[in-house]
Amino acid sequence: MANKKNKKILSSSINKKSSSLMDDFNSSINIDQRLIEEDLAVTKSHVDALHKLGTLSIKEKNKIHKGLSSIQKDYLDGKIIFSKKNEDIHMNIEYFLHQKIGDTALKIHTGRSRNDQVATDTRLWIMKSSKILQNEIKQLMISILGQAKYHKETIIPGFTHLQIAQPILLAHHLMAYLEMFRRDLDYFSFSIKGSDENVLGSAALAGSNYSLDTHLLNKKLNFTKSKNNSMDGVSDRDFCMYFLHASSMTAIHLSKLSAELVLWSSNLFGMFNVHEEYSTGSSIMPQKRNPDSLELIRSKSNIIRTKAMEFSNIISGIPLTYFKDFQEDKKIIFECFDELKICLNVMSEVIKKSHFNEDKGVQLCNSYFATATDLADYLVIEKKIPFRQSYKIIADIVHYAQNHNKNLSNLNLNEFQLFESTIDKKIYHYVDVKNSLNRKKTPMSTNPKNISKQIKKYDLYLK
Ligand code: ARG
Repeated sequence: MANKKNKKILSSSINKKSSSLMDDFNSSINIDQRLIEEDLAVTKSHVDALHKLGTLSIKEKNKIHKGLSSIQKDYLDGKIIFSKKNEDIHMNIEYFLHQKIGDTALKIHTGRSRNDQVATDTRLWIMKSSKILQNEIKQLMISILGQAKYHKETIIPGFTHLQIAQPILLAHHLMAYLEMFRRDLDYFSFSIKGSDENVLGSAALAGSNYSLDTHLLNKKLNFTKSKNNSMDGVSDRDFCMYFLHASSMTAIHLSKLSAELVLWSSNLFGMFNVHEEYSTGSSIMPQKRNPDSLELIRSKSNIIRTKAMEFSNIISGIPLTYFKDFQEDKKIIFECFDELKICLNVMSEVIKKSHFNEDKGVQLCNSYFATATDLADYLVIEKKIPFRQSYKIIADIVHYAQNHNKNLSNLNLNEFQLFESTIDKKIYHYVDVKNSLNRKKTPMSTNPKNISKQIKKYDLYLK
């Protein structure tokens, strides 16, 4: 056990005379205790490297490992009480270890610094968390793909400027989001790759006075390489920015999707019904269901986007190397992770369980002349009329129909011929909303054959 004198060495060597106000202000344990698993792993690997050097005997190494594992167990059993006097997760662990195994614990900090320790812990955490978010994104993609498959034939209007533009398949619209989230998966892979550099061996800033085996350190912690430059090692937080940027992009996509579904669930659109598990009633208006889940995703996503800005405010303008400013970084990445994770999770459930209205889309397409472009192409293809001219003719026809309270399918042939005498009954083929989809020729189009192909592609991708 720790002898009295040495117990004092550990608790008083760093924060000799700090006031309790300062202890409170200076400590980060309430936040960085989340790095406990990473910090224990980092210390275990460092101890292995010290042993390889002969700085620690096998007996000492085993004793320390056992002590660290027992701290981990205490933590999982909820038996650990962290102290602000011990400032952060690193000092708390050192303190607990001393209590458990005595003075052998006083050797673990040989040849390292909290600067390389915290940077390495954070890198491990970012890699782990990026993978968790990638998995959440995949779950959401699976939900979206499920709806796309179910709605392989459902037609909706596609919008530009939120004006009804042309008929498309709902599956086509949904799969546009699969493209966005696929890019997000790649972005998080970039975040993982950018974090994959072991800082251990950098010590405080100049490198360690002990020839720690970096290959061993990397192998134990699953890094593929070490930092090239110890000064960059302890001050580099770019990898956190990669993580926050990837999170921002995902948040932008979530915010877009939620905003869209909020609109679609409005009575005015009538295209989407949020499942009752994810909508709420009004406290006064009995007829209402509000899409609260989606509105919260929208606002939370917009807050997530600000995290990259918050973080860059901390790291920008800081000279080399370590400054305590960096201690504030973890709060930001943790908040970002927690909010993004729950938003992805809720969005996935909302998409999976809610209902897209199958009939409303065709109705809207017909009422708002969604096949007008097809009619202009009818004149180009069948009657060899130049496009600018045919555009004008169809614009006049649409105007006429609006004034007579009709849509394109209930104009009769004579009415069409008022504007262009060569128009024949084949025009009705071009008026039809479903035919419009089949007419699309390019590989990225809404043509149902193409959409089926893309569904298959995503099926394989997500397997
Ligand atoms: N708690 C500190 C942080 O999160 C650990 C590094 C402390 N290093 C130092 N030189 N004060 O950044």
